[in-house]
Amino acid sequence: MVPKTLAIPLVQISRHLGFAPVLTFADTVLWNWELVNPALPLSGDNMRFVNLFSGTNDERNFYHASAMAELRGIEILRIIDDYNTLPNVSDLTSITKVARDLTRLAGVVDGISEVIQSVRPLCDPHVFYWDIRPWFEGSDAKGPTEPGWVYEGVDPSEQLDLSGPSAGQSSVMHALDIFLDIDHTLRQKRYPAPSPENKRADHGFMQRMRRYMPGKHQEYLNMLSAVPLPIRDLARSMPTLREPYDMAVSALKRLRDSHIRIACLYVVTMSRSTPGARAGCPASAMIERLQAARASGNGPVRGTGGNELSVLLKAGRDATKRAMLKPN
Ligand code: HEM
Repeated sequence: MVPKTLAIPLVQISRHLGFAPVLTFADTVLWNWELVNPALPLSGDNMRFVNLFSGTNDERNFYHASAMAELRGIEILRIIDDYNTLPNVSDLTSITKVARDLTRLAGVVDGISEVIQSVRPLCDPHVFYWDIRPWFEGSDAKGPTEPGWVYEGVDPSEQLDLSGPSAGQSSVMHALDIFLDIDHTLRQKRYPAPSPENKRADHGFMQRMRRYMPGKHQEYLNMLSAVPLPIRDLARSMPTLREPYDMAVSALKRLRDSHIRIACLYVVTMSRSTPGARAGCPASAMIERLQAARASGNGPVRGTGGNELSVLLKAGRDATKRAMLKPN
């Protein structure tokens, strides 16, 4: 039960901003930093994270890695914007530019994969799982059968979006998916057909995560979804673009592969570990409850958004692969 003194203003301000009344990726990363030296421009070295749950450097480094992925993402947004504002795509100059940009996009996406891997030495998986992640659990983190949170004084409280944050709420990653026409919903007929495990995944996850983005970001993604000629359709009709398009998609597939490895190490493997002693820590009671819940239920390991984690992430990876025009 979230008391009304918190719940009502939180819901009001969130409605004003057009998104979910709960901790989001925007709160932990996008809006959670300040410049170390305000006289210098924003860069990875010139940013400091302000609010931490655990007070650990591991948490700081985890947010920093996500922020670095966002900063790399600026180039992705520029490439998308360049494509969407091309006066036409029928002349040789434009086609050459699109091919060059797709190749560049593949390099940027590979750079983000490196950023994801860079958390390994900087954020200890055990600290992540036991000291940081419990704070990210949303109302549905224990799965659909467990009772959720009630926001006192908010009607109807059951309809609120109350999942926990992850970079699945990063608008840059969604923009990339939209641009390359990755079909997470399995609506398009593509090859190879989804596996039974893919079919079992939560196909609405990515769409739902958009409701956890600031309203302006959601508007931007809606605008991207409405482009008259998706780049995948153009690449299908232009042999010279097929390979560059596939290079960009396969870079995104590699990113999801490397993300699965990280998520497995930080979440799945760590869910089998035990927390260290932490007498006197204000969160110790919560962590003990969490451990007891883990020990009692042998159910699947869930993401902060309450999904069966490996099924969800592999479905995203496989949906990415299916966008490729030359499947092998
Ligand atoms: C230690 C590092 C990381 C861990 C442990 C981790 C873990 C997770 C988990 C558990 C989910 C599922 C979320 C849910 O169920 O709500 C998720 C989703 C996601 N994460 Fe991460 N993540 C990490 C770093 C990153 C970074 C740096 C990025 C930036 C690109 C990223 C991008 C994503 C995306 C886009 C999703 C949505 C699913 C998908 O697109 O495949 N993650 N992550």
